[in-house]
Amino acid sequence: MKVLIIGNGGRESAIYQALSKAGDEIWITPHSFGINSVDIPVTDTERLLQFADNNKIDFVVVGPEVPLVNGIVDDFTAKGYKIFGPNKKCAQFEGSKKFTKEFLMRNNIPTAKYLSFDKTQQAEAISALEKFSLPVVVKADGLAAGKGVLICETYDSAEQAIIDIFNDTFKGAGETLVIEEFLDGIEASLLCFVDENTIVPLETARDYKRIFNDDKGENTGGMGGYSPNPIVTEDIKKLVLEPILNGFKKENFDYRGVLFIGLMIKDNTPYVLEFNVRFGDPETQSVLPRLKTNLLDVLLATADGNLSNINLEWDERCSVTVVLASAGYPKTYVENNVQISGLDLVDKDVIICHAGTRGETIPIVNGGRVLSLTALADTLDQARKKVYNQIKNVSFDGMQYRTDIAKS
Ligand code: AMP
Ligand code: GLY
Repeated sequence: MKVLIIGNGGRESAIYQALSKAGDEIWITPHSFGINSVDIPVTDTERLLQFADNNKIDFVVVGPEVPLVNGIVDDFTAKGYKIFGPNKKCAQFEGSKKFTKEFLMRNNIPTAKYLSFDKTQQAEAISALEKFSLPVVVKADGLAAGKGVLICETYDSAEQAIIDIFNDTFKGAGETLVIEEFLDGIEASLLCFVDENTIVPLETARDYKRIFNDDKGENTGGMGGYSPNPIVTEDIKKLVLEPILNGFKKENFDYRGVLFIGLMIKDNTPYVLEFNVRFGDPETQSVLPRLKTNLLDVLLATADGNLSNINLEWDERCSVTVVLASAGYPKTYVENNVQISGLDLVDKDVIICHAGTRGETIPIVNGGRVLSLTALADTLDQARKKVYNQIKNVSFDGMQYRTDIAKS
């Protein structure tokens, strides 16, 4: 089968490697170092369709949220393609925080108390702040590349957050905003495959969001992770998954794809913080190497609505993923033609995922999260030691990574 993966981050690299195991012909876009790639932007649906036509692509897998929210699944489906990911209607669960909150409330799924306001209601939004204790969370409604959530320690900063969001700081994401109660608990990501009748959790994972050790510094896309994550128990899965699937059925959402449920677990109650309509990054790099079932079969069954026929089998071993980021991350990267060395020295059983790299023969840093390395071992501690041992082989100017991933 010929498969096109849309997106070239670490997550898509992990999907590429999992799909390549079965010998299918896999393409990735935009350009990615060292693998079968083309260079078409993820939002250029017309050129993507043209590439799929010219190369007789059988199946398309979408990684990032932006094309999903733009409706790429509807566009490819209309041209007769089989494509993995939710349609435009369902992608609103990531495209609008208000949309998701309303769904959660209608279906009695625990979530933080909230109020939402549109741009014409700035004064009302500011007055409403006093109904929330501090800290208070202010969120731009739309897609903001993970930056649209502001946890405010004072009412003055919350007021400023409201003004900034409505002043278009998050470029198009701030027509509406959500003010939300701050929940103090343990955060976890629960990823599942979903079709019309079935919701199947993947193995659990933990993500480390802050740039520095001990969860210090700015929020990032994710600096590393591990799997499994025992915080997410079978009871918690059941509490969350059943009402979500029932809600989808009752409200006629034909959701097909991955649903990433962001949870805050407080007093054994899982509160849903958010939905993402795609695989997580770096959760995918930790979880997919543990999947024994052929990933292509799972993705095809999800797209076809046959998920109930699939039995996911998992490697019992633990995985640890560490992200290597460029100088400046999570702020902007100043292009400097920095070469990456030592990748060829990394043990063959450690999985390297390219993300912010470019170049044809020698990998060059392209900024942001550059690479991730994942090791598997019988225990978390062994996997952690193995991955950190192998990272010693890799170097580039300005390389930064956390040294406390999976450390107990
Ligand atoms: P979201 O994109 O909605 O998941 O928010 C990004 C991050 O902000 C989450 O991963 C949490 O760490 C934090 N966050 C969001 N909402 C809340 C909340 N109501 N209480 C506490 N932390 C939150
Ligand atoms: N690791 C968090 C995310 O993918 O959104």
